Amino acid sequence: MNKIVFATNNPNKLTEVRALIPQWEIISLTDIGCFEDIPETEDTLEGNAQLKADYITKNYGYDCFADDTGLEVAILNGAPGVYSARYAGNQADGEKNIQKLLFNLKNKKNRKAQFRTAIALNIDTKKYLFEGICKGEILSTKKGTSGFGYDPIFKPKGIEKSFAEMNQTEKGIISHRGKAIRKLIEFLNRNK
Ligand code: IMP
Repeated sequence: MNKIVFATNNPNKLTEVRALIPQWEIISLTDIGCFEDIPETEDTLEGNAQLKADYITKNYGYDCFADDTGLEVAILNGAPGVYSARYAGNQADGEKNIQKLLFNLKNKKNRKAQFRTAIALNIDTKKYLFEGICKGEILSTKKGTSGFGYDPIFKPKGIEKSFAEMNQTEKGIISHRGKAIRKLIEFLNRNK
């Protein structure tokens, strides 16, 4: 089976991505013995994804892909965007980030938002970028208990459920990461 490193230790993402690419063995950072905090110092999703993939390729020598995702809210000019994980501060968790976003959108009519994922792939000394977008809106209260991050307050366009009310398969079909990963898979399958 073909193997590739996914530069993450987020168990939710690993499960999501492994379910989407059963034909590849996805190796985590723990599997390669990487326990460092990889810097995410760029101010774009693409920049951070590339930084993480480059860190692994340079220091560990593996072909690798890395993702970075942001929730882009229209009326907040794209915030929290690349800062989605730390929206409510460096020690923020999903709940604090959600509360801050709900507060900032209080009484706002325009609740349009999108999740956007950038994936950087380093393979055979070449670099590639893939993007996936899921459009939707921010709910005014939390719905559902599955998933992670902003899932309970994100309702994808045309669907009457939040991400947190979907199972992983349902979410993967329409999600930003699902779309970006499928572009990555198509590429890998064409080129390997
Ligand atoms: P990351 O850089 O891909 O880890 O994503 C940054 C932040 O965006 C995460 O810490 C989450 O708060 C949020 N996020 C990313 N993907 C999702 C998702 O699929 N659902 C909900 N929140 C997400």
